Amino acid sequence: MRRKIVAGNWKMHGSLQANAELLGALAAAPRAACEVVVCAPFPYLAQAQQRLAGSAVAWGAQDCSAHELGAYTGEVSVAMLGEFGCSHVIVGHSERRAYHGEADAVVAAKALRVLDAGMRPIVCVGETLQQRERDETEVVVGQQLDAVAHLLGARMSAVVLAYEPVWAIGTGRTATPAQAQQVHAFIRARLQHHGVEAETVPLLYGGSVKPDNAAELFAQPDIDGGLIGGASLKAADFLAIVSAA
Ligand code: 13P
Repeated sequence: MRRKIVAGNWKMHGSLQANAELLGALAAAPRAACEVVVCAPFPYLAQAQQRLAGSAVAWGAQDCSAHELGAYTGEVSVAMLGEFGCSHVIVGHSERRAYHGEADAVVAAKALRVLDAGMRPIVCVGETLQQRERDETEVVVGQQLDAVAHLLGARMSAVVLAYEPVWAIGTGRTATPAQAQQVHAFIRARLQHHGVEAETVPLLYGGSVKPDNAAELFAQPDIDGGLIGGASLKAADFLAIVSAA
């Protein structure tokens, strides 16, 4: 059976003071039935490590370099993330793809780096509104998935996948549970097609998940938790979503 995962993606939010309060509340919360992860901005990983070490909450990063080390100004390697105790790294978020031109091959290379460093990549896939309206959702998501599956081969079973429809991110317009389930079922079938033991791969949904819609989304047979943006910045909201899982 797959254990549910709720991961927070703080994006470019936070401050030492605000984080101290948020991380303190998460560390003090009763142990959840699901796995809980917070993905903080790079400069706050030391703070996350300090506040969460010994708690049931894991922490991770929102991106990493596709390179091992070297002259890559501004980039952060997976080895560095490992030194700060990260267990998970988000790769291929739609905001990285859209604003930083990350192509499928780069996303796949990053996922491999994360695995090689002994951490778990949270690989994001998802279509834009225009692609959905053109009925291209499965083509787009399929391509994004295939690029990673081809490079990772059997190691694909060690990743976490997050389906995040771009039109649902930060818009308050969440996919309906049925819409999300349909794509999740497609992703699981595609994994199977690649020879991956698909039943064991956690598939998270992301895009305007809130305390009031989380339970219904997480009740879908192929939705194994969520990747939470805005609602992960408020301890009460994030913990309510954790409870829903
Ligand atoms: P929101 O929950 O703010 O819509 O963000 C979702 C997301 O992009 C998580 O990675």
